[in-house]
Amino acid sequence: MRDIRDDFLWGGAIAANQAEGAYRKDRRGLSTADIQPFVPGAKPTDLHFNDMDSEIYERYKNGSYYYPKRQGVRFYDRYKEYIDVLAEMHVKTLRLSISWSRIFPNGDDEFPNEQGLAFYEQLFDYMKQKNIEPIVTMFHYEMPLNLVEQYGGWTNPKLIDYFVKYGQTLLQRFQKTVKYWIIINQINLVHKEAFASLGILKDKVDDYEQAKFQAIHHQFIASSKITEFGHKLNSTLQLGMMLADTLTAPYSCEPEDVKLNFKRNRMQYFYSDVLIRGEYPEYAYAYFEENGIQLNIKEAEKELLRNNTADFLAVSYYWSNTVKASENSMDPNSTVKNPHLKANRWGWSINASGLYLCMSNYWDRYHVPMMIAENGIGFKDVLTDDNQVHDDYRIEYHQDHIAAMKEAIREGADIFAYCSWAPFDIISAGTAEMSKRYGFIYVDYDDEGNGSGQFHYKDSFYWYKQVIDSNGKECSYPCVNSSNEN
Ligand code: BG6
Repeated sequence: MRDIRDDFLWGGAIAANQAEGAYRKDRRGLSTADIQPFVPGAKPTDLHFNDMDSEIYERYKNGSYYYPKRQGVRFYDRYKEYIDVLAEMHVKTLRLSISWSRIFPNGDDEFPNEQGLAFYEQLFDYMKQKNIEPIVTMFHYEMPLNLVEQYGGWTNPKLIDYFVKYGQTLLQRFQKTVKYWIIINQINLVHKEAFASLGILKDKVDDYEQAKFQAIHHQFIASSKITEFGHKLNSTLQLGMMLADTLTAPYSCEPEDVKLNFKRNRMQYFYSDVLIRGEYPEYAYAYFEENGIQLNIKEAEKELLRNNTADFLAVSYYWSNTVKASENSMDPNSTVKNPHLKANRWGWSINASGLYLCMSNYWDRYHVPMMIAENGIGFKDVLTDDNQVHDDYRIEYHQDHIAAMKEAIREGADIFAYCSWAPFDIISAGTAEMSKRYGFIYVDYDDEGNGSGQFHYKDSFYWYKQVIDSNGKECSYPCVNSSNEN
């Protein structure tokens, strides 16, 4: 029976656009994340940020909103303080991303911005000093705005060259400090996040569906080219692909629900089938034909995909949903809530066994090493008068999900890391709120960017430290050797 490996990487994950701030500092260019406003009470669907057209784009770009991601949680200026508290929690890894527009401010620049590279060099060196292994995402929901405006985002094949140049620059520069690379965050979420993931404005393309899949094809090709380059450059580098788990369950055992669920899930496996198995599967070609989608896929590209598959699979897991044939279609956004599950105030259902199921499924299908790249729950935490946060709900969430991961490992799944989203509070991706908090460490900023910026350890901080120190053996709460009196 497999067990958690001795060198297991316990840690957390953040993204540059949600943490760094300093959006114009040291020659950084404007990125898609910089124009996401905070609108009190708005849901992601109200913001239309991920399903963007030119009118909304102009309104957000030139509006007088508050833009939380421009400030983030000041990670750019305060990174040593953040790394210090993570080291105090004994984390072994931090997954973070590089801001593309810090390295190539316009995306199509001839030379990289040395100031941007220097920042990450210092950051990775400092993490190494503190024994924290970096896992680095090259593209996490932000791209230079210029690439949207001048090129139409990833619909344009020129993006392949710009992104590959960026990826090669990172690998060359950081190959000695960074072993694990995730090329693109949650590559399968295009139907939820066409703007953040692909930089597409829907009124600028003739056929939105077709444009998304062609853009995805360009991301596949760019991923394979970067993988090819990385493997030639340094054989110790590990280059992975990433899915947000969106596998569903049938709402009932009615044959039509079961069949729709099967077809839906297969189109979710599509992304990893291409990047891990190395080819477009037959069911995807059939789907494209049935839906009038005609992709431009060259023979040489097929070979490239075949020869440069991903070294590992990174998975983010938060919630699970069901599908019902009478209400849902093949659209990945149409789901029915599972009536057996509770949810947080943002409607994200809580289902630890879903993590067991997806990791076991991916293992059975691919047999490549896997990591849990994100897992966590957002809450509006309450800071007590004496600066404590009693977040037993968060402890319970992680406890149950870690138990689910252990079950998958016991049955054979090769999982080498668990990254909580996020180890300290950062700006929410979907709503740009600060008050949707995920961290084990409370960071004192509010939705409008006010606050002291002080850190306060939540109860979960001490609990997670115990989990790490015991390599996942001790997950009980209250903690066995409780030290949360300080
Ligand atoms: C993941 C993203 O899908 O969900 C993160 O990769 C994001 O960037 C996380 O922060 C949680 O979503 P949200 O909207 O609650 O921040």
